[in-house]
Amino acid sequence: MIMPREIEVEALRARLERGENLTILDVRPASEREEWFIPGSVHHDAYHALAAKQDAALADVRLPAGVPVVTVCGAGKTSVVAADQLAERGFEAYSLAGGMKAWSLAWNTAEAVTRQASLIQFRRTGKGCLSYLIGSGAEAVVVDPSLDPEVYLTLAAERGWTIRHVLDTHVHADHLSRGRHLAKRAGASFWLPEQDRARYQHRVLRDNDEIRFGASTLRAIQTPGHTMESVCYQVDDAWLLTGDTLFPAAVGRPDLEASPEEARARALLLHQSLRRLFAMDAGLLVLPNHSSRPIAFDRRLIATTLGDARHAIQLPADAEAFADSVLRRIPPTPPNHHTIVALNEVGVVPTGDPTDLEAGANRCAVG
Ligand SMILES: [Fe+2]
Repeated sequence: MIMPREIEVEALRARLERGENLTILDVRPASEREEWFIPGSVHHDAYHALAAKQDAALADVRLPAGVPVVTVCGAGKTSVVAADQLAERGFEAYSLAGGMKAWSLAWNTAEAVTRQASLIQFRRTGKGCLSYLIGSGAEAVVVDPSLDPEVYLTLAAERGWTIRHVLDTHVHADHLSRGRHLAKRAGASFWLPEQDRARYQHRVLRDNDEIRFGASTLRAIQTPGHTMESVCYQVDDAWLLTGDTLFPAAVGRPDLEASPEEARARALLLHQSLRRLFAMDAGLLVLPNHSSRPIAFDRRLIATTLGDARHAIQLPADAEAFADSVLRRIPPTPPNHHTIVALNEVGVVPTGDPTDLEAGANRCAVG
């Protein structure tokens, strides 16, 4: 139940998306803030003083007068103490209910348009997952959904689109796929690249297979490496949805759910896949599956041209040298990835709060 001095994630998200003037005061220890934060928030490490209920915990915090304040901590308890203290000082103050853990589900959008189609990039700013709703005429596809199905259904309905197809680029390791459930709710087909991992009914896309929707065409491009089944989806001559294969300045990690030998084999395949992508039209817009940083409510697309990605990555000609360099720079393993992969393979989103399992930042890239 929401308490009088609390604000829910959805309400804060909507206010930020509307561009309202708010101060967000993050009172967590610096080590927690380093992991993830709300874009534009102010940091004041008052965690221990607040937890000890010290009256002067926020005495030296200067905040703009007359602007509502939202206080944030890890789970939404200490931030209530902070909001109470600020209210005593005359601020309109709220605590973010559920804290940063609940914020994991917050999202915002950015958009791109061509003559044939409109693309909406959904960004889970609280976690970094990116997903896509692309409409053409009266039909739409969704790629890599990581939010509640209602979010996509509502936006599609507002645009007058019927979601015909839902696709994942691979079996995900750092978020629960909502694809199967969205497809069911929408009465759409659910597609996966060819693999023997998913143990539920789905349709299979093979290399160069095409799906038509409205006046647009989506084409599957097999790009193994991050996982064996990973694909990219090209939409018309405009967009290249690269999943976790290629990011604006990073490539997909090849080591999850793999032995060291398998990781090396995948790194070599990734080299081939990237060569294939980099031979495509340099003007295609690369639209990845995640960001490793919190995403501002700025409506700016997270994307780059294929030409710029090629320049940023400087792929060596020698596949072995590429594998060595990628395997040397593997980031820490995302928490709970075994459990998430296992659930995605059976197509189950557990009932209740998904944020426990999905805790932590996306870590599918090697930068
Ligand atoms: Fe991934």
